[in-house]
Amino acid sequence: MIVCQCKSISHRVVDAAIEDGATTVGAIGRACGAGTICGGCVCNLKQRLAAARPRVDATAPEGAAEELPLRRHG
Ligand code: FES
Repeated sequence: MIVCQCKSISHRVVDAAIEDGATTVGAIGRACGAGTICGGCVCNLKQRLAAARPRVDATAPEGAAEELPLRRHG
């Protein structure tokens, strides 16, 4: 399933970024580019982070879930 239409990034790529240590939407964007164009997929990225958090974020430092501002075009 494509999660990020702008970058044609699938849920598998996003989940791999999370498994590799991405704990924020910004970190996912840096890892694979998802969420870095229009921001329309950010809610989906947040849902995937929340679903994965019990298994990958148990030791994340406080504040690790802070979000970076979205890039805006124009
Ligand atoms: S759909 Fe992901 S940045 Fe546009």
